[in-house]
Amino acid sequence: MPRKIIIDTDPGQDDAVAILLALGSPAELDVLGIVAVAGNVGLKQNAQNALKVVELSGVAGVKVYAGSERPMRRTLVTAEYVHGKSGLDGPDLPEPRQQLETQHGVDFIIDTLRREPEKTVTLCALGPLTNLGMAFVKAPDIVPRVQEIVLMGGGLFEGGNTTPAAEFNIYVDPEAADVVFHSGVPITQVPLDVSHFMLGNAERVERFRTLGNRTGVATAEMLEFFERFDEAKYGWDGGPLHDPCVIAYLLKPELFQGKHVNVTIETQSDLTRGMTVVDWWGVTGRVKNVNYLRSGNDTGFFDLLFERLATLA
Ligand code: BDR
Ligand code: CA
Repeated sequence: MPRKIIIDTDPGQDDAVAILLALGSPAELDVLGIVAVAGNVGLKQNAQNALKVVELSGVAGVKVYAGSERPMRRTLVTAEYVHGKSGLDGPDLPEPRQQLETQHGVDFIIDTLRREPEKTVTLCALGPLTNLGMAFVKAPDIVPRVQEIVLMGGGLFEGGNTTPAAEFNIYVDPEAADVVFHSGVPITQVPLDVSHFMLGNAERVERFRTLGNRTGVATAEMLEFFERFDEAKYGWDGGPLHDPCVIAYLLKPELFQGKHVNVTIETQSDLTRGMTVVDWWGVTGRVKNVNYLRSGNDTGFFDLLFERLATLA
């Protein structure tokens, strides 16, 4: 039986590849719905981007919802400087024919968790954690019903990418992250420490382009746009594919290594707001709330992407 997941996302080229990887893996993953959140760009545009990616995949019947328009307490910070004006610059994707569902994304998360058997739904978070935090605050009864949260965010050994201390997804809504990390739900965290080594270099971009389908061509175009920023910023050979690591972990956990540690979120300090404070050496004695991934096999990760994206339209 495929594992049931909800993808919470702000697409984003790397989010898009994550969605495509999930939709290309129907034997293992049953995507119950995709929920957009404000992040890389505003909510409306992120929701449209999610629809475009679903249509690109050619997979029918995937419902897309719009969730929260802004972080719990802060003014929204966006990242057009990374993802382009549309949030998904690169390929020229057609305007989506599919409509957004009318239900609010947070209510979709709540209803789904109440309806499905306990601990059978995994939440995959690829953007700021606003929708998950809001759902847990609005309906605390759903918290023990979640099987697992697998999220992209934070970092320790690689530092931050938005401030010296903070990664973008956690930085945008640290209060929501605080709710999620304190929820007691089993969490697997994919930090920058993993994603910074999953680089879409020129050879890999070319492999996407020649997969033989439109998804492969569009993926190559997305990565070409996306990597410009990171290549200029870090001098790397290709941009890091952060969010697809979340889905890859669900499909092939053996590609990643990590350990159980305590992670708390800094919400107070102006200097380090949004930092994931990782107790890597267990010096605090605080409860181990996170399976923190430390490294991954990039060759295996890209092979998985090539294999699964090739099955799409
Ligand atoms: C995260 O921020 C976004 O820009 C990416 O999509 C990813 O989720 C990386 O810091
Ligand atoms: Ca994202």
